[in-house]
Amino acid sequence: MEQQPKELMEKIISLAKRRGFIYQGSEVYGGLAGTWDYGPLGVSLKNNIKHLWWKKFVDDRQDMYGIDAAILMHPGVWKASGHVDTFTDPLVECTKCKKRFRADQLENAGVCDACGEPTGEARNFNMMFQTQVGAVEDSSATVYLRPETAQGMFVNFKNVVDSFHPKLPFGTAQIGKAFRNEITPRDFIFRVREFEQMEIEYFIRESDWKTQFEYWKNEMKDWIEMIGIDTAKTHELEVGEEDLAHYSKRTVDFEFDFPFGKKELYGIAYRTNFDLTNHNLTYQDEETQEKIVPHVIEPTFGLDRTILAVLCSVYREEHTEGEVRSFLSFKPSVAPVICAVSPLLKNKPELVEKSQEVFKMLKKRFGQVMFDDNGNIGKRYRRQDEIGTPWCVVVDFDTLGENQELLDTVTIRDRDTGAQTRLPITELESYISEKLA
Ligand code: GAP
Repeated sequence: MEQQPKELMEKIISLAKRRGFIYQGSEVYGGLAGTWDYGPLGVSLKNNIKHLWWKKFVDDRQDMYGIDAAILMHPGVWKASGHVDTFTDPLVECTKCKKRFRADQLENAGVCDACGEPTGEARNFNMMFQTQVGAVEDSSATVYLRPETAQGMFVNFKNVVDSFHPKLPFGTAQIGKAFRNEITPRDFIFRVREFEQMEIEYFIRESDWKTQFEYWKNEMKDWIEMIGIDTAKTHELEVGEEDLAHYSKRTVDFEFDFPFGKKELYGIAYRTNFDLTNHNLTYQDEETQEKIVPHVIEPTFGLDRTILAVLCSVYREEHTEGEVRSFLSFKPSVAPVICAVSPLLKNKPELVEKSQEVFKMLKKRFGQVMFDDNGNIGKRYRRQDEIGTPWCVVVDFDTLGENQELLDTVTIRDRDTGAQTRLPITELESYISEKLA
């Protein structure tokens, strides 16, 4: 059944909270706008996505170098990168109620979204969070929380070259927090003030930029499909010259049809040699001794938006006579819980003992395995469906030999079809790992 967008968003937010994926930040103090906390299943989902990203873009390649730079960086970095002067959004204030908005996000330009009165003139608002280092509170101690992970890679360019002597083209990759003082954080985890980015700076010769741009755009498309984001809801947008970031000569955004509209999910930019030039960094070819400032292709992926796009892509409802079964059809490699193990009845010690044995075996192998004996078996299936567990294993009396032919076998139920298969316990590990692969 086609979901109404607003209703779908509410269902996803409610499920995310109820089932321990995502909670409002500082909730017990009334919340802190633009911050969200990931609960146990959210962390697991996030870690799976980060792990898959790192594997695809770093570990499976020979030309990529991982970085984990500090969040606090020297203010000179942000002066050189252009962020101090240009990383701004247009801010307007209502002339009557004094509420503040991003001018380009008002429902009607120049009119307050809250009270309908006119807004004042727009002014540039720098989105970087400032803080002080050390015990002195003057402007010399001001530093910024990084608004993008990218600069941590640019300023380590020389370090990587000196340690590893890579030949062009090669890349650096980083996953980490970024902070932006968004004027109007909104749409759940879509626009927040503290978020995570997964970014690549791929250093190239200028003459290769068009080929490399196409190559990385395709890699991003591959990734989108690989983690189960609905490709039919993903669109490429060639960013117009007037909207390009100050460092970019070409940008393509990957947009996704979120329930609240078609919005940016990821981006790929040709940053030329803007950043390395501004940081005074060069590259010397060891064979030819040629000295150049490499150019850069930057594929950038917001992790929180990835999670939201995945949740929106995999949310399903099945309606049957008065009953609704909702489930998250995660790809097994992304699912926060790979498998749940249950005894058919929880008040039968022999069933509990055997199912604990099976649980421990699977947990040792796959880690993200849950023991679930709450409520009856139907309720357990519903709960596991809601959190997107691909397989539920049940130990019943036949497992214990009530039917000798079925001794040491269990049922394994598929989340998407609800179909149950009987398998020997000894085949469980290979059954799951084949499907995971
Ligand atoms: N280094 C380039 C860069 O930071 P960006 O388009 O400003 O480019 C990259 O940000 C990605 O970070 C976006 O495509 C989006 O996925 C994510 N992102 C940006 N601002 C965000 C916010 N306020 N909340 C959540 N994610 C955000």
